[in-house]
Amino acid sequence: VAEARRLAAGAATLQDLAAAVAAFEGCSLRGMGATQSVFGRGDPNAQVLVIGEGPGADEDRTGQPFVGTAGKLLDRMLAAAGLTDKVFITNTVFWRPPGNRTPTPQEQAVCAPFVERTFALLQPKAVLLLGAASAKAVLQTEDGIMKLRGQWREWRLAEGGLSAPALPTLHPAFLLRQPQAKRQVWADLLALSARLDGAG
Ligand code: URA
Repeated sequence: VAEARRLAAGAATLQDLAAAVAAFEGCSLRGMGATQSVFGRGDPNAQVLVIGEGPGADEDRTGQPFVGTAGKLLDRMLAAAGLTDKVFITNTVFWRPPGNRTPTPQEQAVCAPFVERTFALLQPKAVLLLGAASAKAVLQTEDGIMKLRGQWREWRLAEGGLSAPALPTLHPAFLLRQPQAKRQVWADLLALSARLDGAG
């Protein structure tokens, strides 16, 4: 984690940070079959930082987050909420976990300095956390996603005093299996949108 912190701190832009992630050898997921790192996509001046769990097969192949089926659903929902041009999208880990399993808290902790540096460089007005593994890692809570979703929390960095309101919601991959839950995510996206309008 010290090496991740050092590399992350040296990055002055999101582009630098993507290169620092690609050069980082300290995440054990690298040796478990991931073919490349997957950092972020979107507007480097975005008002909203969206954090998923980890890359899947399509992301591993293309090097871009949320480009598979779940990503396409996410993009459609962001577009419907008028958020497409307002987001930068990343994950809690930057290499595909084997078999698309959930990243472990240990893997997430090793990658956390890069996620925190993304937050510090972007200084978003709000953060959207997709799914339990993302919400738990970022907010350092054991609460379940059904309790967390739709509730604003404060994400405050230990160093530097940076904070922003963070909204956990359900993961788009879950919505592919439980389409009726889209209604809850839609409510969360509207709340996020209203918050941005309120914040100017
Ligand atoms: N699911 C995630 O959590 N992240 C991705 O990038 C793709 C699918």
